[in-house]
Amino acid sequence: MARSDSHFVCQSCGHSSLRWAGQCGGCGEWNTLVEQRRPEIAANSPRAGGRARAGTAARPVALRDVSQPAVPRLLTGIGELDRVLGGGLVPGSIVLMGGSPGIGKSTLTGMALGNLAATGRRTLYVSGEESAAQVRMRAARLGDHALAVPVITETSLEAVLATLEAELPDACVIDSIQTMHAEGMTGAPGSVGQVREAATAILEVAKRIDCAVFLVGHVTKEGAVAGPRVLEHLVDCVLLFEGERERSFRTLRALKNRFGATSEVGVFEMRGGGLVEVEDPSARFVGEASGAPGSCVLCSMEGTRPMLVEVQALVAPTEIVPPRRVANGVDRNRLAMILAVLARHGGPGLSSADVFVNVAGGVRIDEPGADLAVAMAIVSAHKGEPLADPEGRPMACFGEVGLTGELRSVGHADRRLAEAIKFGLTPVIGPPDTERLVALASHKTLRSALGAAFAKRAQRRAA
Ligand code: TYD
Ligand code: MG
Repeated sequence: MARSDSHFVCQSCGHSSLRWAGQCGGCGEWNTLVEQRRPEIAANSPRAGGRARAGTAARPVALRDVSQPAVPRLLTGIGELDRVLGGGLVPGSIVLMGGSPGIGKSTLTGMALGNLAATGRRTLYVSGEESAAQVRMRAARLGDHALAVPVITETSLEAVLATLEAELPDACVIDSIQTMHAEGMTGAPGSVGQVREAATAILEVAKRIDCAVFLVGHVTKEGAVAGPRVLEHLVDCVLLFEGERERSFRTLRALKNRFGATSEVGVFEMRGGGLVEVEDPSARFVGEASGAPGSCVLCSMEGTRPMLVEVQALVAPTEIVPPRRVANGVDRNRLAMILAVLARHGGPGLSSADVFVNVAGGVRIDEPGADLAVAMAIVSAHKGEPLADPEGRPMACFGEVGLTGELRSVGHADRRLAEAIKFGLTPVIGPPDTERLVALASHKTLRSALGAAFAKRAQRRAA
């Protein structure tokens, strides 16, 4: 049962009740009641009908006259992180760092605090998950900077707030927001009500004392109901740290950023001494590209940065109906569409084959420009013919595939090409080109692009 200062509000219709119930009494939806603290309704609050009319009118100011203080950003000393943040941490901002367990959130935020401490900033690491000794053990792997960071192990929200007010840090990590619990509330730590209450209170204090906060949050594969998703609208910046735990590559991307672009992606590698920035991911991925049947290099754009990645496919006959379609690193629906277009427009019909597609290195590609590379890799796997030339140089391509089998242009063709040229992967097969770019072999349709890619092989074989 809720204490008298809290109540349960339906997230779908707003109905409020004193008791938690599985089904909302207002709209009949299930599992929508969330505990909330009752605001103290003072006699003069607008809600009580008192002050709204008595208040003095505010004077709107034209945006161009709004003063814009130039606040220097806090540089975390981790180039990739600073870039994704839009040029460093903004003082007083709240950054939510989401990611599945074991991906390296504590490592990355710990390194950032260590670097900030080394530049003379006040820092604080609040650990709600691990003991101080465990945090120290990790810091020891990260080096001297990380060991200088002051730590508290605390899960009581009130105690954390008091510590923030007493220590006045410039930057702080709350690891994790799901472990914090407010005393006035009955929900278990990690429940939507608790997480939101804790985040709101921390946000309020952080803005007041001008402390930049990393809120660490776990997300499950499904995006977790009680997870940090409920916080996305509260915080200034949402970063998602992704990758496969067994692989060493990790990508950091911004889903929301009030102080910068959301298209930037940082690439890291987990090593024995912490996370290492991968400054030239293309070199790594092209170097590892196998050039075997089913492998194709994609000229992708990750934010403002062109990146060459290897797309791999495996096509295997199966008796299972419906056959399996497994996509790692590309969208599953996109894969289904590409298979359908292939079947209709010049590619093989794969209705009795399992198809697996994977972007090597655990990278996730979220753009339609990847379509052509996925199609190429699948056809190459199906035919058992490599796309690489006799010297083993892999073939590179990019372009969106339309439902009528046409190839469509995608943004930044010039920068994609420049990256491929840098690694000698020319000519690049791509969509029609309006800018007369060098080294681009343009094709109007998927059929003609496939024809060109595999005809070259056939010619070579004949010669
Ligand atoms: P961690 O930051 O604790 O993950 P999270 O906070 O997201 O749950 O680190 C995850 C993994 O990284 C852990 O299994 C061990 C590994 N690791 C290294 O390989 N090298 C290192 O230097 C560190 C600190 C961790
Ligand atoms: Mg952790």
